[in-house]
Amino acid sequence: MLTCVTALLLLALVLALAWWGCGTRRARTPGPLPPGPTPLPLLGNLLQLESGRLDRALMELSGRWGPVFTVWLGPRPAVVLCSYAALRDALVLQADTFSGRGAMAVFERFTRRNGILFSNGQRWRTLRNFTLGALKEFGVGTRTIEERVLEEAVCLLDEFQATAGAPLNPRQLLDNAVANVICSVVFGHRYGYTDPEFRRLLDLFHDNFRIMSSRWGEIYNIFPSLLDWIPGPHHRIFGNFTELRVFISEQIQRHRQTRQPEVARDFIDCFLAQMDKEQQDPESHFQRETLVMTTHNLFFGGTETTSTTLRYGLLILVKYPEVAAKVQAELDAVVGRAHAPRLEDRARLPYTNAVLHEIQRFISVLPLGLPRALTRDAHLHGHFLPKSTFVIPLLASSHRDPTQFKDPDCFNPTNFLDDKGEFQSNDAFMPFALGMRLEGEDRPGLSQVHGREEGEGLTVLLHPQESGCAWAQAWRARRSSSSLPPSCKGSTCSLWGARPISTSPRSALAWATCPQYSSSAWWPAEACPPPHTLNKSP
Ligand code: HEM
Repeated sequence: MLTCVTALLLLALVLALAWWGCGTRRARTPGPLPPGPTPLPLLGNLLQLESGRLDRALMELSGRWGPVFTVWLGPRPAVVLCSYAALRDALVLQADTFSGRGAMAVFERFTRRNGILFSNGQRWRTLRNFTLGALKEFGVGTRTIEERVLEEAVCLLDEFQATAGAPLNPRQLLDNAVANVICSVVFGHRYGYTDPEFRRLLDLFHDNFRIMSSRWGEIYNIFPSLLDWIPGPHHRIFGNFTELRVFISEQIQRHRQTRQPEVARDFIDCFLAQMDKEQQDPESHFQRETLVMTTHNLFFGGTETTSTTLRYGLLILVKYPEVAAKVQAELDAVVGRAHAPRLEDRARLPYTNAVLHEIQRFISVLPLGLPRALTRDAHLHGHFLPKSTFVIPLLASSHRDPTQFKDPDCFNPTNFLDDKGEFQSNDAFMPFALGMRLEGEDRPGLSQVHGREEGEGLTVLLHPQESGCAWAQAWRARRSSSSLPPSCKGSTCSLWGARPISTSPRSALAWATCPQYSSSAWWPAEACPPPHTLNKSP
């Protein structure tokens, strides 16, 4: 009797869940969407999207469903753009339509769609144009961003040299250096690497990234209302956000007290000046809270991405010493050892430039980009996509597109070199995504801010060899060469130690996370993980 009642109750529960799942789906689907794998009630396609391997799982699904298909992240549908052609046809050829930002619950609660990263419409346009202008122009007459990068690189090299060739985990030093460049641009000053205020700032960011890329963070993004009621570490994200807000607010207050309106020292001063200009305008987007969020966005968007790129860049150069040697030889021949390489040298450094591009292609540091949302109805590859559709631009799929790159699963700098050894760009290279979120109508856009720091930083680290690469030599010496796997297909192939360290997600949170969060102290651990997109065992 009891079993019968339990079975009936279970059946009722399952039916209720199915009904609820279908109802939710009906309510949230803005219209017919491209076909994709059949979703389960409530869970959607989560069981097919293994945590930590989402980019590859989606690429596999694309084999069956084509370059534009729908997956359900829990009760929410997402249209995936998978392949260079699909990404180009959407983000470039219909740039305005695909320029909206898709919502992510974990950021929604904190940002309330304020700041650049998660805003839309006129607010986003205004903030983006202003931020680009400020980032480029505030240094006029004082110091350019490039000088700040070079200055920080010198401090970083000093730290590396201080280790006297002993093995070290460079992660924290790289985080410090990258965050300091952003501090210097946004707050107008850099911090000593042991400064407690600086350490706290970095710890807060780091803790948030870590929780966001954990299962808790993933689940929060899918079922936020439910998770709000369940105790767990995800609640710390919002405590950390609050502390970050206080930190940034204090910086703004200090700026208010010390600034001279006619001289903008940094991004905050610029923003405050714009607030003054528009204070009579009730519709103005230049509000204190917007400044807090935009400042947060610059740290959030800039630190982990750049630092991770540098770290993987170093790892790749350790793995491929022949590539490092060629870069070194080119730097020696073109720049010499008397001064640091600068951006203006880049055109004369085709091989180095190709290596920097190939590193970014190979690691696809944000494999899923950041989610987009349609600003109006659209057609793409024969599918109708209604306004507001949530879109995953699978950037890694362009980097792995065999129609665009030779042996896309292998590290191969000749992907960016022509037959004469000159640098050759490739439209399928899109670590920063494509289209209007990056490129304004009237200016080159964030793509210019993007991609420069890490390139220059890495080049400076490599140069001169006695300083920048000492740690790598020491590390290489410590690891017996036999512990490195043999390269496949000649010189270059996927890295060793096939452990996924990806941006975890089975959830929409994927976009915000970077490889290192799932393994905090992997360098130089015995099993060095490969870039997350490569999971081939050697
Ligand atoms: C290797 C380094 C970096 C990578 C791989 C990277 C990647 C990305 C990607 C994929 C997006 C989403 C773009 C889109 O949806 O179209 C993005 C947006 C953004 N990034 Fe970066 N980024 C890097 C460095 C930086 C730096 C150094 C900054 C500034 C200090 C920055 C600031 C931003 C901002 C403000 C946005 C939001 C743009 C918008 O929504 O309109 N990023 N980044």
